[in-house]
Amino acid sequence: MIDILREWLGPWYLYIKFVHVTFVMVWVWSTAHAYAYFVVPVFKAWRRHPDDDAVIVLRDWVMERFDHGVIYEHVAYPIILITGPLLYIAGGWSTAADWLVLKLALVVLITLPIEVLDYHLSHFGGNKAKIRATGDSEKYEAAIHQHWYFLLYSSPMIMPAALLIIFLAITKTHF
Ligand code: HEM
Repeated sequence: MIDILREWLGPWYLYIKFVHVTFVMVWVWSTAHAYAYFVVPVFKAWRRHPDDDAVIVLRDWVMERFDHGVIYEHVAYPIILITGPLLYIAGGWSTAADWLVLKLALVVLITLPIEVLDYHLSHFGGNKAKIRATGDSEKYEAAIHQHWYFLLYSSPMIMPAALLIIFLAITKTHF
């Protein structure tokens, strides 16, 4: 079965890789600008002025936009997780490629749990606009805090992991 798939996918290898790498670029960089220049400054202002209504209105607006804008990252991620295995099969890769084993360990142990939580906080139970529509301001405030702490603790982990994954994939460093 794998051999048939490999034969069928082989001629498309570079096209699949084009999709894989293009969506890696979207996944890594699509939220960088919004996070660094909108989310972080408004949360810093909120930390300095926790009772300022104008800052809170801006904080909520930025967070709800960020929930929306992260859709680029969250469409790109599953496409990466589909095209990666296709490349693995089409290219006849194996666990003998230690760069790939370490890369996959980082993908599964770091990026996957963080992204699953991010999907929940941004689009499902934690979506701020959906909570706002329920009129439950306490739940809304709790959701804002939860998402902020998630970003604070996950960002220092996911960025180095993402760059290390890309480094391993391109340099194919052997250990
Ligand atoms: C967040 C997840 C991932 C990121 C950031 C990522 C990143 C990359 C990058 C940047 C390349 C291009 C390397 C080059 O041009 O030489 C690449 C290639 C590749 N990736 Fe991924 N990848 C991810 C997930 C996966 C998964 C889950 C698999 C397999 C199960 C996978 C398998 C491969 C393979 C086989 C190649 C081709 C290597 C080559 O032809 O040079 N990737 N990946």
